[in-house]
Amino acid sequence: MSIVRPRGTNDFLPADTAKWQKMEELLRELCRKYGFGELRTPVFEETELFSRGVGDTTDIVQKEMYTFEDHAGRSITLRPENTASACRAYLENKLYGQVQPVKLYYMGPMFRYEKPQAGRFRQFHQFGLECLGSAEPAADAEIIAFAWEFYNRLGIKGLQVKLNSVGCPNCRPKYKQALQEYFRPHLEELCGSCRDRFERNPLRILDCKSEICQGIGAGAPLIYDYLCPECAEHFATVQEMLRAAHIDYVLDPHMVRGLDYYTKTAFEIQITEIGAQSAICGGGRYDGLIEEIGGASTPAVGFALGMERVLAALKAQGDDIETDNTLDVYVISGGDTQLKAAAFALTKELREAGFKVEMEFGAKSFKAQMKAADRLKASFAVIFGESEFAEGKAALKDMKEGGQDAVPLAEIKNKLAEKIALS
Ligand code: HAM
Repeated sequence: MSIVRPRGTNDFLPADTAKWQKMEELLRELCRKYGFGELRTPVFEETELFSRGVGDTTDIVQKEMYTFEDHAGRSITLRPENTASACRAYLENKLYGQVQPVKLYYMGPMFRYEKPQAGRFRQFHQFGLECLGSAEPAADAEIIAFAWEFYNRLGIKGLQVKLNSVGCPNCRPKYKQALQEYFRPHLEELCGSCRDRFERNPLRILDCKSEICQGIGAGAPLIYDYLCPECAEHFATVQEMLRAAHIDYVLDPHMVRGLDYYTKTAFEIQITEIGAQSAICGGGRYDGLIEEIGGASTPAVGFALGMERVLAALKAQGDDIETDNTLDVYVISGGDTQLKAAAFALTKELREAGFKVEMEFGAKSFKAQMKAADRLKASFAVIFGESEFAEGKAALKDMKEGGQDAVPLAEIKNKLAEKIALS
């Protein structure tokens, strides 16, 4: 048996990675506009960072982490997400000493041992933003506005921004209690996972995918009736800002995110065309996380998007990212070593001058080489034939117009620049 890649992972080939690079360029451009600087953290961390940060009771920590002991017996985990690492880096590098908020972005692979299916992988890629050190609703609104602009710039249609507030340690316990009272008489009817959730985190029952749990949850008390005045005001202000910026959203009181650290704002953007894994991003406020991992109490908000899912959404909408796979020049020559060397020297010179150039390495017929020039969508071909080369010239052929001139070697670069500027 030949060796294949592990389940739930992907190989991205040049035709795919060209699209990834375009998406990454747009994200970096937006980060420059919005004032986020790039953070790069290790892809593995001490396991405790995630068990404390993401939460011991979450599916991620209980079932999905790639955890192993290193040679010195330390427990190490491949990062399942990057918010906890961003908070660790904020503390470890004393970023709290800088002007607040500190606005960071990241992109890279994350690892979760999930059941692979369309849009759900074991190694996937996230782009994310974290705004650390601001409790202001404007920080929440800015994160959502960024995501909104990104998807709109890509031309993704049919987005639905789902917004909720999950309260804070002041008001959530009362809501939790109300939910337990509501669900207790139905305990036997709930699915196995929800029965587990009942004690630890009954809010999670609200976004269970099982129809029965959803049916029971439909009549559950709403968090909006339990938010403390501070959370209610924060939630109202975030909404007012989104409305002022013409960002459409719907309130979804049952949207509870799968990570434990959220407080106040929680949001997801969904698009139904990509199937069951419809969340193309998710995020929210996590005012308790930095303290949880050993820092001073620091408010923060962020989001992350699944890059594979963004590309899947574009593809599903028939609006794939355009990539430039054309060539300026294809250099053709006879098989003689002297001709090949001259062709090689010209290729190098033209590349240094900024042209996109390829050459034929071997001794193929001129016809086969012309075919290759066509296949590579070259605008021009430079042809080194023996008789012209003897006169210090090569033929410059316009692949679209069809014309061909013998041009002195020293003039080819300028001639090409002229022609390409005109085309
Ligand atoms: P999350 O909702 O777990 O949040 O993941 C964010 C996004 O990553 C999802 O909306 C989805 O697009 C993508 N994603 C998650 N799991 C997979 C998977 N197995 N395969 C493909 N894509 C996936 C977080 O990770 C938080 N750290 C977001 C955040 C940042 N909150 C505050 N700051």
